[in-house]
Amino acid sequence: MRIDILTVLPDLLQSPFNHSIVKRAKDKGIVEIYVHDLRDFSDDKHRRVDDEPFGGVAGMVMRIEPIDKAISFLKSQRTYDEIIYTSPDGQRFNQKIANTLSCAQNLLILCGHYKGIDHRVRESLITKEISIGDYVLTGGELAAAVMVDAVVRLIPGSISDETSALTDSFQDNLLAPPVYTRPAEYKGMKVPEILLSGHQAKIEAWLHDQAIKRTQDLRPDLF
Ligand code: ADE
Repeated sequence: MRIDILTVLPDLLQSPFNHSIVKRAKDKGIVEIYVHDLRDFSDDKHRRVDDEPFGGVAGMVMRIEPIDKAISFLKSQRTYDEIIYTSPDGQRFNQKIANTLSCAQNLLILCGHYKGIDHRVRESLITKEISIGDYVLTGGELAAAVMVDAVVRLIPGSISDETSALTDSFQDNLLAPPVYTRPAEYKGMKVPEILLSGHQAKIEAWLHDQAIKRTQDLRPDLF
């Protein structure tokens, strides 16, 4: 998979992709991630990518020209499965969307900023708008990082134990069961007996029951 990200804050996106599973996936050639500075596509001598909104509304708005130039340039090189705009009023990101996006060849993510973006971008250049939750971030960069992380870990080969991505919380609309490691007893707190029993079938059944119980208790809306 190839992921291109258009942003006015490219430095903000250096660290999230250089650790852990995403870094390993890059090193293995499973994913290529390119972060582009939107200002490189500005024809303004001060490299500005925003302007005042029409109609006397407060705040600044991202201009269509640099965005159109950047997207047109990238689209001339390859076909994108989705051109995603990160915005608090987009479709709420979830595991199902992550699963679908993980099957893509090429993704382009445009990070929103300032007060908003010239609406013509949303009408004509974007194929999907995604929000990571009902709160407003300063910009779309952290939302892009969240999406990339959730998507890349699902690409086969990213995680050494393939089953582990499939047993994540939400993969079957259930929260994950609790996990424990050594020591079996710590300050009087014991690991559930069943996990030490060696009966794999019983353990699986217990884990499933626990997943259902946790979901009922914490996220009944998932049923
Ligand atoms: N940009 C600002 N807030 C956001 C959010 N909640 N999700 C995606 N992009 C955003």
